[in-house]
Amino acid sequence: MVLHNDKRYWDDPINFNPARFEDPNVTHEAYFPFAGGAHTCLGKFFASYLFKNVIYKLVDNFEQITTDEDLKINPAPIPNPRKDVKIQVL
Ligand code: HEM
Repeated sequence: MVLHNDKRYWDDPINFNPARFEDPNVTHEAYFPFAGGAHTCLGKFFASYLFKNVIYKLVDNFEQITTDEDLKINPAPIPNPRKDVKIQVL
């Protein structure tokens, strides 16, 4: 909580503003939600699968998902995009 409220790393840290992560230059080293070391969160992988499910359910409600980017897929170990892809949902 102290790190995530530190004004040296975050502009306006108290405000919930997911758009701050749209800037590719934003430092992710100061984003440390599951802590680390011996007492790192035991549920972090479970939690991230849960979030992916929530996003899947959310995106499933949109009729159209498009992207302007050239989509390059890594075929293995499971198909996944080579780099992050920005999408538009309608
Ligand atoms: C958004 C979801 C979650 C966040 C942000 C989160 C974050 C954290 C943080 C910051 C700690 C403290 C680490 C420390 O003491 O330094 C922690 C510990 C822990 N978390 Fe989570 N957690 C999440 C979800 C979960 C879930 C879903 C589970 C279990 C299913 C879980 C189980 C635990 C356990 C057992 C610890 C204690 C680990 C230890 O002290 O050895 N967490 N979590």
